[in-house]
Amino acid sequence: MDVRSATDGDLRAIAKIALANDDDDGADPGYVAHLRAHGRFLVAESGGTAVGYSAARQLGGLTQLCDLFVDPARHGGGTGRRLLDAVFDAGGERSTFASRDPRAMSLYVRYGMVPRWPLLYLEGPPLAGIPAERVPADVAAAAEQELNGRDRSVDYAFWTATPGATGLIVRAGGEVAAAGVAGPDHLFHLVTADGADPAATLRAALATFTVARVDLCLPGPHPALPLLLDARWRIEDADQHMSSRPDLISPGDVLSPSFA
Ligand SMILES: CC(C)(COP(=O)(O)OP(=O)(O)OC[C@H]1O[C@@H](n2cnc3c(N)ncnc32)[C@H](O)[C@@H]1OP(=O)(O)O)[C@@H](O)C(=O)NCCC(=O)NCCS
Repeated sequence: MDVRSATDGDLRAIAKIALANDDDDGADPGYVAHLRAHGRFLVAESGGTAVGYSAARQLGGLTQLCDLFVDPARHGGGTGRRLLDAVFDAGGERSTFASRDPRAMSLYVRYGMVPRWPLLYLEGPPLAGIPAERVPADVAAAAEQELNGRDRSVDYAFWTATPGATGLIVRAGGEVAAAGVAGPDHLFHLVTADGADPAATLRAALATFTVARVDLCLPGPHPALPLLLDARWRIEDADQHMSSRPDLISPGDVLSPSFA
């Protein structure tokens, strides 16, 4: 089995593996192109065809594992391990969001990652409050960079390619308290400044929606979780955040599971 960078010729096999594992992202050519352009996208090839893939991004000094999928006919056959060897070959800090497949957590633990907290897939009604400002993607990306030093502008551009999606800025006392991205019915990302209240910034972000139901992914320890559950939000699913150090991903942010 050979592990190598994905090419255009692998797109069909990648989509087939994704769909066979009930994942839509790998079947979206725009998603695969984004990770190929701004991260690493590897395939395991056997008999001339891709039978599994892994993808990772660098976030600062951290390697974020975005995807790991293997053809179901080969689950348990060592392909996942080969793909992880290749994608984590540079060492350093690592994080990911593990599915419920026990093979995933079993492997990640042995690549140095510890289970930290659940990432909850939540759905519920918008909240009342003073709404955040809807701004262009580059304005919100610059605000996030000011908050945490991370240049996520390519991710902001990717998220806002969804029709109706915009950047978001929450202000408190004239200062930027949070930055993120919201679609018509999905909050992709919200990062809150140190010292600001993540429950208050999330309330402001949710006050911008005009639809009946919104969804988002929230860390279990996020301070807004009790508020959302009291407002009849529903837990639809959960991944497990795993990382080589406990402080790599903030549990006070709204996250996109692949990218953090
Ligand atoms: C998760 C996945 C990528 C792993 O790839 P894989 O090729 O099946 O995994 P491997 O065979 O390389 O390794 C699986 C490991 O899990 C271990 N394992 C299997 N079931 C286990 C269990 N119930 N508890 C603990 N360990 C278990 C195996 O023993 C093996 O470890 P070993 O190599 O030390 O023997 C693959 O199974 C898959 O595509 N699953 C569905 C999609 C998914 O959930 N992807 C993860 C997204 S986060």
